[in-house]
Parts: sequence; C-alpha cells; structure tokens
Amino acid sequence: MQAEIHSLFPTALYVNTYEGDTTEVVKYFDSQPMNAASQAAYGEISKNSYIINHPVCKSLNDFFMKCFEEYATNIMRYRYEKLEFAQSWLTYKQPGMFHKAHTHPNTLLAGVFYYDVQPNDSAICFSKEVKSFNRSYLEPSLLDDYQQYPFSQEEIYFTPKQNNFIIFPSWLSHGVPPNKTNRVRKALGVNALTKGTLGDQETISEIIFGRYA
Ligand SMILES: [Fe+2]
Repeated sequence: MQAEIHSLFPTALYVNTYEGDTTEVVKYFDSQPMNAASQAAYGEISKNSYIINHPVCKSLNDFFMKCFEEYATNIMRYRYEKLEFAQSWLTYKQPGMFHKAHTHPNTLLAGVFYYDVQPNDSAICFSKEVKSFNRSYLEPSLLDDYQQYPFSQEEIYFTPKQNNFIIFPSWLSHGVPPNKTNRVRKALGVNALTKGTLGDQETISEIIFGRYA
C-alpha cells in the first residue's frame, strides 16, 4: 500500500537566467566600494545600496522587473499597478565569512542575482519557520533532517548557476553557510515592492508611501 503525499501550501522559489551580456555591469559592480563587515555573521555590503539605479544596469533591470512581475502576479496573486525596486546591494563573503539566517523586512519580494558563480561557492540555505506556521506548538523532538524526504526538511539548499536570478517572499528565512573557498563569493541582492501604495482603500489595508511623514 503506497500512500500519496500532497503538497498543500508550498513556497515558491523562482529561478530564471539572464541571457544578456554582463561584461559592463560586472565591471561596474567590481568598481564599487564595499563597507567592511560590520558583524562577522553578515559579510560585506556595498556602500551604495541603490546600486542598480545606474544606467549601465538598464537591460538587467528590465529583466529583473519582468521576473518580479511574473512572481508577484502569478504566484503571490498581488493586485498592484506597478512594482518598483527598493534597495539593491552587492553582497560579498570573504573566505570564512557566512550570513546567518535572516529575512528582508519592509519589502515584499527578495531577489538575488548570481553574476559571479565559481565552483564550490556556498549555496543559499532556506529555513522553515520555527515555532510558527509550519510547526505545532506541541511536538516531540526531531530526527535528523533527512534531505531526501522533502516534507521533513528544516533547511533546503539551492545551488545557483551563473547569471541565475532567484526570487522568494521577503519573509522567508535564508542564509549562506561559510565560504570555504579561497576567493570572494559575490552576489547582488534586490528587493521589490508595490509602487506608491500598498493595499487598497476598499479593504481598509491602504498605505500611501510618503503620506505619513
Ligand atoms: Fe538576504
């Protein structure tokens, strides 16, 4: 007797690949000053946190926005007029550095662009919410996390390929294990949210950005 297992409310990790030429964009990224790692568990972040606003990123941004719109509409079912980029930043992990599990507050969608993938780079690690939506408050202690059983997993790793752009909901916890290579692991982070307003008047859920300052 073989049981069926149905996936009821899966979380979508979106993966697309940019097919344009990134030569000039990468030169621009590599010329950017970085802040020193403020905490050992975060890695380094570019001083400019609106990094894709530069014109050299134009076609890359068009691609990012198409991906965000596809995710927002078809997966999240957002009703919105337009999306816009929030902050965007370079994130480096020097050898030995890692990024502890975190979420991206005050935004809707989180994206990562892997423009410099090298062999043995650390994967990105997604974590299940603990003591929240996916867990009972009353539970036994757990066996080891066997990765071959999808429903048992507390952590799921995704190994990006060159020029992958990934999107996930900003509330989803994620991190990067220690960089075990002898080179810098590089990626670009970009957040997106609805432009101008969030929610709507009819459902008494409206925020008008800038109104309450
Ligand atoms: Fe992040």
